[in-house]
Amino acid sequence: MGQTTVQRFADRALRASSALAFLAPLLTRLAIGSAYHFTGDGKLHHLDRTTQFFASLSIPFPHFNAIFIAWLEFVGGLGLFFGLATRIFAALLSCSMIVALITSDGGEWLKKFPADITDVTSFTYLLFLIWLVLYGPGPVSIDNLLAKWLHIGGPRPPRARTRIKSMANRWDYKDLGFGIGLRSVHFQHILDKNPAIDWFEVLSENYMDTGGRPLHVLDQVAERYPLVLHGVSLSVGSTDPINFEYLKKLKALAQRVKANWVSDHLCWCGVTGLNTHDLLPMPYTTEALRHTVARVRTIQDFLERPIALENASTYLEFAASTWPESEFLAALAEEADCGILLDVNNVYVSSYNHGFDPKAYIDRIPRDRVVQMHLAGHTNKGTHIVDTHNDYVIDTVWDLYRYAHRRLGGVATLLEWDANIPSFEVVHSEALKARKFREQEEAQLKTPELAEIPAYGD
Ligand SMILES: [Fe+2]
Repeated sequence: MGQTTVQRFADRALRASSALAFLAPLLTRLAIGSAYHFTGDGKLHHLDRTTQFFASLSIPFPHFNAIFIAWLEFVGGLGLFFGLATRIFAALLSCSMIVALITSDGGEWLKKFPADITDVTSFTYLLFLIWLVLYGPGPVSIDNLLAKWLHIGGPRPPRARTRIKSMANRWDYKDLGFGIGLRSVHFQHILDKNPAIDWFEVLSENYMDTGGRPLHVLDQVAERYPLVLHGVSLSVGSTDPINFEYLKKLKALAQRVKANWVSDHLCWCGVTGLNTHDLLPMPYTTEALRHTVARVRTIQDFLERPIALENASTYLEFAASTWPESEFLAALAEEADCGILLDVNNVYVSSYNHGFDPKAYIDRIPRDRVVQMHLAGHTNKGTHIVDTHNDYVIDTVWDLYRYAHRRLGGVATLLEWDANIPSFEVVHSEALKARKFREQEEAQLKTPELAEIPAYGD
């Protein structure tokens, strides 16, 4: 994200030249090996001697022909190119090359060099493989040096050794970075400017029963950015039959935009066919848990993907509830095998409205279930908070976000701004504050004494 055109070009040029440098000797060996085989011109001195070398050590070594070896190297080389068992395979091939060279006619290849192209390619291939063995963390990695110098992507950075980085969710849903909700007021800006934003969250219902411009825009955005679908009508807690017509449209939309995942809320929206168009609070009872688990499993089977459920903001509670919301959500995620979208602002809003400890809530959320976080602004009415999504995120919620990040690891984070929506830049810069807070938190985690996560109650 954020690369300039020059950097992007340099990045691609570096990758292309690396690929060419690697594939050239492989292709040459394939061509030469094939030619020797078909013309019967090659006597495969090296291979004969290599076989004898291993035989003298009583190690069986198959007597393959040239074309077989050439293909083996080619296929192995492609495997290396795509990063499959890179270092192990490269090390084995390097060893075979070393054996081939030491069993050759004692320096003969040097005299023929570069007249005998097979020896030339063997040698260049060997050099390349040695480089590949050292590639990555080694100081001799050309890619690493160039990438550092040019400030471009280069090879994937080594995995950080902080606890945070190892906390992947169980489906390996990606940490998409920092996104915002896709809103029509920003359509033109996005299409014209191609802003450097990590991803967008799309309100599913806005694009289900519509065509024309919204869908046309969505298709274009989907081509350029990773998307996630977020719905408000799944009504997982309702006692009404599951709406398979809705699910059919949701599934089609998710496939159309290649959604990274699909989310909705832990709530119910109505009963007896009546839709309140609101996210109503659940009674947190064992009976409700059983009921919701079964529905989530059915929904996931139909969608053929795990969904993520979000903790909604609530303003009242059922007297019949026997579970804290966080434990209910955690149990639901475990038993239905679904993900969690943790809305940090909603945790704060509900904690204010009902008087519970928001950090204790987060402590009870299983980290391997969390695939996304939400942040938003709200309206504090003094006696209660209304989840209005119409303002900047308050400092207390940012603090809670840092805490959630420490507890749950780096997951895709989205800023919601749904009323009085300011310019794209304002919303995006608010979302990017999350990156700053995460970086601060990760910097602290590099200090071992600060990396200890306080247990709930400490
Ligand atoms: Fe949310």
